[in-house]
Amino acid sequence: MITQIKQTAEFIAARVNKLPKTAIILGTGLGELVNHIEISVSIPYKEIPNFPVSTVEGHSGRLIFGKLGNKEIMAMQGRFHFYEGYDMKQVTFPVRVMKELGIKTLFVSNASGGMNPSFKIGDLMIITDHINLFPEHPLRGKNYEDLGPRFPEMSEAYSARLIAEAKKVADANNIRVVEGVYVGTQGPTFETPAEYRYFHRIGGDAVGMSTVPEVIVARHGGMEVFGISVITDLGIEGVVEKVSHEEVQKAAAAAEPRMTLIMKELINNFEEL
Ligand code: HPA
Repeated sequence: MITQIKQTAEFIAARVNKLPKTAIILGTGLGELVNHIEISVSIPYKEIPNFPVSTVEGHSGRLIFGKLGNKEIMAMQGRFHFYEGYDMKQVTFPVRVMKELGIKTLFVSNASGGMNPSFKIGDLMIITDHINLFPEHPLRGKNYEDLGPRFPEMSEAYSARLIAEAKKVADANNIRVVEGVYVGTQGPTFETPAEYRYFHRIGGDAVGMSTVPEVIVARHGGMEVFGISVITDLGIEGVVEKVSHEEVQKAAAAAEPRMTLIMKELINNFEEL
């Protein structure tokens, strides 16, 4: 695995003039952020050695380097989901490569179903913590000390200082944000009413099918993480309605300008470690 990570990082580094310290995974709700990046290098995933190839419709699948405001950044346009059939090592491989390239801070976004009764469709939820319910762990197997410790510490998986900064940005721009715990599940089914109820009772505020594996690997590698989720549907007792991929896309698109603004300002203003 280490050989592959190094090989891929070398391939990328050879094409990029100035390597950034900040990376963004452009998940649902953040696709449009790409239009704010002054792109200097763009590499389709299919050209990158050892990279999995994106399968989901509408995910262009490329790695972007450039400037977002005054920050040099690297962005993943299109991520790899466990439900697509990738194993956890493949899902999280790009995060390993990020670390090897010198990334210190990772920003992620996703869409999720809200279970907290105070949430509304279209809300932006700053992820304060997560519950990992994926059936496979990205760190299972031999641990390479060069990548991180055998038993990583997870008491502050999502950076408290970045959460505070994001709330300031939202406040200053009159954008409603909520905070909560993201439950990561494998999908691809949306939840039954009983599952939503269960995930809420165990401490979740929203549930989705991504992010947790990438965050675990980022934390394993000592990266600082910030995540935000757009609530695209509700799984609240008595309020569970039919949900479709189209509705998720529609609600995410409606929230996109707010999500983009928060991420853009946050990334522009935060102090790199
Ligand atoms: N459940 C799981 N994943 C999701 C949901 C949901 O309700 N909404 C968007 N992604």
